[in-house]
Amino acid sequence: MKKIAVLASGNGSNLQAIIDAMEQGKIKGAEVKLVVSDKKDAYALKRAQQKNIATKTFLPAEFTSREDYDQAIVTYLQDMQIDLVVLAGFMRLLAPLFVAAFPNRIMNIHPSLLPAFPGACGVADALAYGVKVTGCTVHFVDEGMDTGPIILQESLPVYDHDTVESLQQRIHVLEHRLYPQAIALWVQGKIKLEGRRCLIDDN
Ligand code: GAR
Repeated sequence: MKKIAVLASGNGSNLQAIIDAMEQGKIKGAEVKLVVSDKKDAYALKRAQQKNIATKTFLPAEFTSREDYDQAIVTYLQDMQIDLVVLAGFMRLLAPLFVAAFPNRIMNIHPSLLPAFPGACGVADALAYGVKVTGCTVHFVDEGMDTGPIILQESLPVYDHDTVESLQQRIHVLEHRLYPQAIALWVQGKIKLEGRRCLIDDN
C-alpha cells in the first residue's frame, strides 16, 4: 500500500476528490495517510478528520526560515514513510531540500494550462489575459514555480460571460477528475519520465 500525504492550505476540495476516488476504488493500492496544512483553520483539515485521517499543522510563523520550515515537514513525512506527496492547493513554494527529499514523488495541481499563468492566481490571470481556452495541469514538482514535468492536462473554453468564480468552478470539476487519475497512474507505475516528458503507459 502506497502512503500518500496531501498538503493543503484551504478548502481541500481536491483532497476530497482524492479521498472519494479511493473510496470508489478508482485509486487502488494507496491510502491518504496524512494531511498537512500551513493554516490551522484550513477546511482541508476538517475533511481529513471526518475521514479519520491524521492531520498535522506546520505554522510558518513558528519557524525561523523557509528551510527550517520545509525540513520540519520533510522529517515528519519521512518518519511516516510517505511515498508520494500531493500538493492540493498548498500555496507555498517548496524549498530545494524538500524537492530533493522526494524526487519525482511530489505532485501539484494548477488551475491553468502550464506553462501559461503559473503562480497563485492562475484562473484570474488567464481570464484577465483574455485567453479563449484554459484548463488545469497536474505536474511533478521541481524547484521552480509550477515548472515541473507535466503529467496530465485538460482544457476548457473561456466564455465571454465568465467571471473568476464561474471559470474556477468549471476548472474545479476538471481538477477533481484529473488529480485522482494522475495519482492512480503513479501508483500503478504507469508514468515514465523521459527528460521532462511524462510518458503514460495506458495498458
Ligand atoms: C485548486 O484549484 C488548485 O488548482 C489551486 O488551488 C485550488 C485549491 O482548491 N492551486 C494553485 O493555484 C497552485 N498554484 P481546493 O483547496 O478546493 O482543492
